Amino acid sequence: MNIIYEKLRINGDKALLGVSRAVYDMTGGLLGRSRFSKTVDVTHVGSDVKIIAETADSVTIAKTDKDGKIVDKGFRILSTTDLHLGDDPKLRKKCIGMLMNHIRATVPDLVILTGDIILGRFQHLDAIEFAQFMEEVGVYWAFVFGNHEAREEKGRFKELLMKCQTTFPHCLAKQGREDLFGLCNYCINILKGENELLKTLFMFDSGRDILDEYRAEQNVPADVGAYDYLKKNQMQWYEDKVNELNSQYGEVKSFMYMHIPLKEYENAIYDAGNGRFPFTDKCRILYGGAYEWVGSSHINSGMFDLIKKLGSTEAVFSGHDHVNDFCAVYDGVYLVYSQCGGYETYTLEEKTGWDESKWIQGVTITDIESDGSFDISPRYNRMYL
Ligand SMILES: [Fe+2]
Repeated sequence: MNIIYEKLRINGDKALLGVSRAVYDMTGGLLGRSRFSKTVDVTHVGSDVKIIAETADSVTIAKTDKDGKIVDKGFRILSTTDLHLGDDPKLRKKCIGMLMNHIRATVPDLVILTGDIILGRFQHLDAIEFAQFMEEVGVYWAFVFGNHEAREEKGRFKELLMKCQTTFPHCLAKQGREDLFGLCNYCINILKGENELLKTLFMFDSGRDILDEYRAEQNVPADVGAYDYLKKNQMQWYEDKVNELNSQYGEVKSFMYMHIPLKEYENAIYDAGNGRFPFTDKCRILYGGAYEWVGSSHINSGMFDLIKKLGSTEAVFSGHDHVNDFCAVYDGVYLVYSQCGGYETYTLEEKTGWDESKWIQGVTITDIESDGSFDISPRYNRMYL
């Protein structure tokens, strides 16, 4: 019954938004103004990416030529995080407009959002609108959930949000296995030939806060609270997937995306007091800065050790810390903050007093060459001010 109700609700809301857009077009923008997409100058960028295969917890994609043949051309990922789209029309317009600017300029093959994206009062409507915006842009996209999308007070919102977005053709997110912690644990396999993988992207739900309901089962002491961490069944799924892909394609190389950073990010900085977080010498810093402490869990999931054991994952991308944007190499693994894109949240003005010409909102561009090597770099919104 719930499924039928949700389908009716989602389709009803899609229809309502469709009518509002038609009214907007017919009245030259006087009526039917939507919450963001029609207020932004949307460009159809398009894509030569195709979905090759799908399962409940994976999607396999590839770039193809005009005859549909898989081509070995390298791959560009644009990632951004914590858009925190709320109810301020000016700030949401600015945020989506900036994202559009970066997509237009960089023409990515895939856009990845690492959580805390849609947080307004009418979240599922916003989820549909965001997905419609990406349909107009015509670029494939995927997401992981952030801690703010997991708020208990929003009831079943997270599941509804997923259903609203995954019904759109360019959204690659998958619900994933129901027996795993969280929602939307899945992987995206990028082919570079019929039987050759360029890279696999592992997507994880890193939860919200540690909950009493699994404290005993996970051996979490009663006095440990705050942010969540990846659970054993998610890590087992990851290990099984790597082994499965290794046997199918040979040694697979991968990236990992989640909202709450792994505890190993803490190795990059130290707390010098007075709001200063200089870099340590434990990591090689490739770019970026740190203006707040790492918001990881008090519990170390052990994922980093598993990454080292399996030897597949070369880079981890996180969000959550809005004014940290460093890209560090720790023990041979890239620990990256996707550039935060949000304005309806705390900014560097509060943390440092800096004006907007120095803020770090933007996107992260990851260029994967056809030999699997890659380059990660930031692009800042301030270039469009
Ligand atoms: Fe956030």
